[in-house]
Amino acid sequence: MSVELLLLIFFLFLVIVFSTVWTTNLGAPWVPTSMKDVHKMLKLAAVGPNDIVYDLGCGDGRILVIAARYYGAKAVGIEIDPLRYIWCQLLITALGLRGRVKIIYGNFFQKDLSEATLITCYLLQETNDKLVKKFKRELQPGIKIVSNNFKFSGLKIVYWEDNTRFYLVPPSQSSESVN
Ligand SMILES: C[S@@+](CC[C@H](N)C(=O)[O-])C[C@H]1O[C@@H](n2cnc3c(N)ncnc32)[C@H](O)[C@@H]1O
Repeated sequence: MSVELLLLIFFLFLVIVFSTVWTTNLGAPWVPTSMKDVHKMLKLAAVGPNDIVYDLGCGDGRILVIAARYYGAKAVGIEIDPLRYIWCQLLITALGLRGRVKIIYGNFFQKDLSEATLITCYLLQETNDKLVKKFKRELQPGIKIVSNNFKFSGLKIVYWEDNTRFYLVPPSQSSESVN
């Protein structure tokens, strides 16, 4: 094996390690939701053509693509990792979905989520805990939130099954915490 190839492999290894540590600190490392669970999450929220789905940390864009292609929704992904952001832009262009899917580069804690009718996410428990305040401040009552794996204490849980939890934003901050 040549020295150049070894250096390239080492460089790629460093990029992966850096990206994982960095995104974990910002919200979650990249671990994709399985395709089966993407459909489960979207069906649970009864997503349809009237929905605007926001995927917080959209990874490789799978939730956005499936929401737009199979369920006719509009979708917006927010992603902080530049490589995955570029990948998502290429993907939606290649699939002809630019009219219905938008990718925003940046930190979802600093983006306006108020137009969302459905929020999907697969993050970490401490990230969800921090997001609850933002949701209560920005989202209209009744907005649907589907979380893979981690809960949102303080939001009204409607349904949960295995690793998928479906929440509605309560009408006011004084609403009871159910989970
Ligand atoms: C566990 S993956 C989930 C990917 C995708 N939503 C899915 O379910 O397949 C989390 C993603 O969130 C991104 N991420 C983490 N913190 C973020 C932040 N503060 N703002 C935007 N994206 C973030 C990561 O780069 C990663 O792609």
